[in-house]
Amino acid sequence: MPGIKDLSIVNSNTAKATPVESGMEAVLCSPELCDSKNLTVYKRTISPGKKFDLQAGNNYHLVYVIKPGNGSIRYNNETHEADEGAGVLLLPSESVQFEASGSNLELLHMVVPKPPAAVEDGLPGGPGYFFNRKTLRGLTDASGGRVRRFCAESTVKFPDGRRLTSTNAIQAGEMHYNEGGASPYHVHKGTPANPDGAAHCYMTFKGRGLVEVNNEFQEIEPGTLVYFPPGVPHRLRAHGGPLDYFEIQAWRSFKTTILSEEPLGLKWFYEREKPADQLVEWNQS
Ligand SMILES: [Fe+2]
Repeated sequence: MPGIKDLSIVNSNTAKATPVESGMEAVLCSPELCDSKNLTVYKRTISPGKKFDLQAGNNYHLVYVIKPGNGSIRYNNETHEADEGAGVLLLPSESVQFEASGSNLELLHMVVPKPPAAVEDGLPGGPGYFFNRKTLRGLTDASGGRVRRFCAESTVKFPDGRRLTSTNAIQAGEMHYNEGGASPYHVHKGTPANPDGAAHCYMTFKGRGLVEVNNEFQEIEPGTLVYFPPGVPHRLRAHGGPLDYFEIQAWRSFKTTILSEEPLGLKWFYEREKPADQLVEWNQS
């Protein structure tokens, strides 16, 4: 019977960090550390005055700004402010440069190998893009207890019908639970295109969470990464206040089964741009 012991729980505040040219690097999740096939997650701290030059090589990369530090992001011959929640989806062979100026710039850096055509399911695999909270769409669940903002997800569309992301290499985004907010109890499994299932993890930023597996519970503090092996059912609750975290699935080819009765928690709606706009449901397929 699966339990909490099947998860990998890593506190990024105390995880071993290694000095690198740009500052510090801590590996929070990798095939070697937790058997997270297809996903490696780093927390990077860029020191003031230092640059982090990232060459994508053969992989997809998603880099997300945890703490801004007056930094900048140079991508595709444009320079952007490295605001909290900003970042870049990088395709194989692309590059990006992050620079810290005033104080430490903290990044969550995810690396994913290029998926096979069956996982892409007809998607072209690109282009890459820069994002921040102004360019991304918020989604609210029907209960009103949870708000999410994907920075990579192929089924999220802009009002004009364009896809946010034209690859199934990775699904990732911010999640906010109001006090008392919780996910349904659920399990993810593989698909014919991705039989081993997706590498799935959460990284909390603000607030405390309570992770549940089969009636076993573990409290987690801000800055904790939790890796869920495929087939291990789980639920996360906000614990003692609101909770902000980041959620990742790679590759984005998996089947989710909801195990709890949550009539309101399964539907998600795009946040309206104007109060008079019609409510539009997010079509997750
Ligand atoms: Fe999950």
